[in-house]
Amino acid sequence: MRTVLQCGNAAGTETELLIVFTTDTTTEKDAKPEVTLLTEEPSLRQAAAPFLNTGEFSSNPNETLLLHAPQGLQARRLLLVGLGKASKTTLNHVRRAAGTAVRFAKARRLRNLCMVAPVSAAFQEGAERAIAEGAILADFDPDTYRSDRKDLSIESLTVILAEGAEQHAAEERLRHGVVLAESQNFTRSLVNEPGNRLTPTVLGRKAAEMASECGLKCEVYGAEKLHELKMGAFWSVAQGSDEPPALIVLTYEPEGAQPGPVLGLVGKGITFDTGGISLKPADNMEKMKYDMAGGAAMIGAMRAIAQLKPKVKVVAIVCATENMPSGKAQKPGDVQIAMSGKSIEIINTDAEGRLVLADGLAYAKQLGATHLIDAATLTGAVAVALGQINAGAFSNDEETYQRFSNAANRTGEKFWRLPLDEEYRDLIRSDIADIKNTGGRYGGAITAAMFLKEFAEDTPWIHLDIASMAWLEEAKPWTAKGPTGVGVRSIVEWVRSYAR
Ligand code: BES
Ligand code: MN
Ligand code: ZN
Repeated sequence: MRTVLQCGNAAGTETELLIVFTTDTTTEKDAKPEVTLLTEEPSLRQAAAPFLNTGEFSSNPNETLLLHAPQGLQARRLLLVGLGKASKTTLNHVRRAAGTAVRFAKARRLRNLCMVAPVSAAFQEGAERAIAEGAILADFDPDTYRSDRKDLSIESLTVILAEGAEQHAAEERLRHGVVLAESQNFTRSLVNEPGNRLTPTVLGRKAAEMASECGLKCEVYGAEKLHELKMGAFWSVAQGSDEPPALIVLTYEPEGAQPGPVLGLVGKGITFDTGGISLKPADNMEKMKYDMAGGAAMIGAMRAIAQLKPKVKVVAIVCATENMPSGKAQKPGDVQIAMSGKSIEIINTDAEGRLVLADGLAYAKQLGATHLIDAATLTGAVAVALGQINAGAFSNDEETYQRFSNAANRTGEKFWRLPLDEEYRDLIRSDIADIKNTGGRYGGAITAAMFLKEFAEDTPWIHLDIASMAWLEEAKPWTAKGPTGVGVRSIVEWVRSYAR
């Protein structure tokens, strides 16, 4: 999708589809419904006026109304997209509404769009970025393996600013949104790949290709490196598979780097999770191809970081392996020694994500990380707790968490913090080792996080359990079903908060 900025003249613009956002400005409960177009061009308001207060369009969030051959405009069609109640409208509504417009256009084979940037004090000039993000994320469809696939991607999107807007600053904001959304789509395309086509080795190759395109350093190590680093926890998962594991390390170092924080991004990269010897039931097991979504989020985040160039050093580590049952696989009851030296009693081989992350976190610290963030499709329990609305977030440090929470609020991604009280530690006490890898029936997302906390130790750390959000079961008006790329935008925003 090509994105272009234009100043003013929405009425005189020739296009297949002109998109304008609306809000519901009804003042009192029983008053006549009132819909307002968010534009300063009177000709657009005039074109829509005859259809506005007829009751056929109420400007609910993501509601659409299509007008053909709108009066007084050069556009062939005018699409109104609702943002909901004026008093409640946020940039997140704009992001979704822009996405809704793109999905609407795609379904009708319209490929060249113009969108009027909504004018409202509430958006504080962030609308261009939200539009770019919403539009590009909506353009993604995960149907690459269908031989009857029709590529209906949008060719161009022109964002029309108000007359006299500051074009240069708007250009920067638009580009920011483009970079983030394209990186998130890159993550989604990785997550969409099936286990036979995206092995740990292939994931490593794709990370390396991305790195060389974006000017990042990338190293991909195999089993020997795991042994050399004494990554007994990571290897305990990898040992059961015929596919070699990949330890992927991406490094971003800004020019003229000064001493300061080093951010460590650690991702779970299980390219397929059968459960191992504690085998999963067959129902829904095919979904476990997305068990590398945390790792893919870190790779996508690094792609964006390489382009946005914040002044802070970042290392990303993805621990990629399959989790398979075999004659070489680890067994319940086995004891493993992690890179940090801690001994782990394996109760359930299906609790493998925390094992690979334990060594990923330790390695990030060895590489100098002063602050850690991990992302993982770690537990089914997080979806039981939060539903498919919020991802889980955990932290051992208030200041670090606050930065993340602020970052997430800016991106519109939803995370809900869950507790890490010391009392939960009892649930993962082992009789024969330092710790065991499962904590029983209750509080599963928390005991998994408590396990990771043992390996973050004193380093400020955030853990994102994205199992509830990495895969969308039903399409939304603004996005396709399937891989979401959750985490990418908030992680990048968190990283940028450390840039000097
Ligand atoms: N990859 C799964 C978690 C998961 C479940 C992700 C559903 C996405 C959707 C993880 O490795 C796992 O199997 N967790 C177990 C932990 C249990 C054995 C303590 C779980 O959630 O059941
Ligand atoms: Mn598992
Ligand atoms: Zn898993």
